[in-house]
Amino acid sequence: MTDENEEKTLTDLYSAHDGKLAHKWASYLKNYEEIFKPYRGKPIDLLEIGVQNGGSLEIWSKYFAQARNIIGCDINENCRNLSFSHAAVAVVVGNANVSSVVEKITAITSSFDIVIDDGSHISSDIIKSFLLYFPAVREGGLYVAEDLCCSYWPAWEGGLFEPKSSYAFFKLLVDVINFEHWPHRTFREDYLRSITGDAINGLETVLAEIHSVEFRNSLCIVRKKASAENVIGPTWVSGREQPVTQNNTIHGSKITTPSPIVGAAALLRMQQQVQCELAERIANIVTHPWFESPYRASPDLPGDFDPRLYLVLNPDVHSAGVDPFFHYLLHGRLEGRRYK
Ligand SMILES: C[S@@+](CC[C@H](N)C(=O)[O-])C[C@H]1O[C@@H](n2cnc3c(N)ncnc32)[C@H](O)[C@@H]1O
Repeated sequence: MTDENEEKTLTDLYSAHDGKLAHKWASYLKNYEEIFKPYRGKPIDLLEIGVQNGGSLEIWSKYFAQARNIIGCDINENCRNLSFSHAAVAVVVGNANVSSVVEKITAITSSFDIVIDDGSHISSDIIKSFLLYFPAVREGGLYVAEDLCCSYWPAWEGGLFEPKSSYAFFKLLVDVINFEHWPHRTFREDYLRSITGDAINGLETVLAEIHSVEFRNSLCIVRKKASAENVIGPTWVSGREQPVTQNNTIHGSKITTPSPIVGAAALLRMQQQVQCELAERIANIVTHPWFESPYRASPDLPGDFDPRLYLVLNPDVHSAGVDPFFHYLLHGRLEGRRYK
């Protein structure tokens, strides 16, 4: 299929559009051009909460001409009358935060490359929608909440110091990204529960997939990646000279000064040593529930399986707070994960 709009920017498409009414702020068009460009020309799945007159769905269908699904959801019954020329566009009518509507949307496609929330802009709705639809974003996908200017206004459950505003919620995701550094062993979900209440149940693994949270004027862009890509990773130590700090430590852990020529294997061993020492320290201050794991006696575990080393070598498992014995038996051995 030829794409007559291939060369046009989103701003070009908005300027030339004379179909159904669409409404976006000028800065959004520039921001979207930047963040959505990599998805152009691909068979993507997009969900937009908030259809209104259908103009933005029409323009998405020009911008993402090769899209597989462009789904709009709107609570307004009049949206049933909308029709679109691009076969990928579908409208689901109903409250996006009600489970029967979620089911209708996910019956069309169960996962999305892009989700845009341009619905009610009420803080509690925005947070609910994120908890409902971020799990359906694919790895490498984006979740965008629009018009967060409303987060500052009381009529939208907002305010500069309002603890339950949508911005207050999204700001907490910065801490979620840094979960592995928290001084207290707790769950990400529990941390967010002050704002979300019980709506957050069962999302611990999904929260580990938050790769980045980006704030632009009235926009929050949350990028999803596999949890393994969201950890800090092993420490790289290179060079030998320490004219300033001669005690050979990193964050309090002793390191070995590398020999003049350090091969990759030696470097890796050294990094592991640092990580092991860090893990030892963690182990000393934290009661690990998996010491009592029912899986530690499994005959399927390698004889030399060390749960702490497994967590060190697989920091995503560590940061997810999963029982290392259970994880290795269920996933690790199939995925060829390192345990020594
Ligand atoms: C700002 S308009 C959408 C504009 C459209 N996206 C555009 O760019 O032209 C917001 C829409 O969200 C709809 N809406 C409000 N609350 C909703 C909800 N809980 N679920 C689905 N749609 C909702 C409203 O009916 C309204 O049509």
